Amino acid sequence: GEITNLEPKLKVAELVAERVRDGDTIGVGSGSTAFLAIQAIAKRAKEKRLEVVAIPTSVEVGLACAALGVPTTSLVHARPDWCFDGADEVDPDRNLIKGRGGALFQEKLVMAAAPETFICVDDSKMVTSLGQKHAIPLEVDVQALRLVESTVEREFPVKEMALRLAKGKDGPVLTERGNLLIDIRLESVESDTQARLIAIPGIVETGLFMGFDVTILKA
Ligand code: A5P
Repeated sequence: GEITNLEPKLKVAELVAERVRDGDTIGVGSGSTAFLAIQAIAKRAKEKRLEVVAIPTSVEVGLACAALGVPTTSLVHARPDWCFDGADEVDPDRNLIKGRGGALFQEKLVMAAAPETFICVDDSKMVTSLGQKHAIPLEVDVQALRLVESTVEREFPVKEMALRLAKGKDGPVLTERGNLLIDIRLESVESDTQARLIAIPGIVETGLFMGFDVTILKA
């Protein structure tokens, strides 16, 4: 897709590429910033003859790795030494909203597996409180859609809730795991919001990334 706000994203991609050491297994996030970062990593690895292996967080970034000649593995086989990713929102406590690209499930797995995470953003992603600009994506089992909708509406101050629809295909987005995505806007996001959402049967994952000790890389 089209990459907006290119300059700062390119700068932050360089910052990520500088962190690469020979032999690293790197978790590779999804989205336009992460895409630029894996491009910069591939270039630096080639120039400096560094061997790196990527653990991709989505089909599209796996394809990008293949096109760039970066070998890939999976969490089944390997543990990342570190990972990087983008974000839709970052709050002052480094809590995140992610999932605009629909890859939140695998992104959270890779982040949980990585001892160190770098979040690549520009100023436009920094917010004082989460969820005022962006909706929170929920990955939901197909069978559970109506149940989840009604439970979330009962238990949270929901301002808006929408099933994410596909482009280039009729009907809803199906994630790489065959689930649906619901984007919800809440009156406010509290410290227990993620825990309360994930406790609802049928919610497989949420785009709230809270309590990960991430390092913010900002151009
Ligand atoms: C992908 O599912 C998302 O979590 C992305 O990491 C997030 O939307 C950031 O994307 P950009 O770097 O394109 O803004």
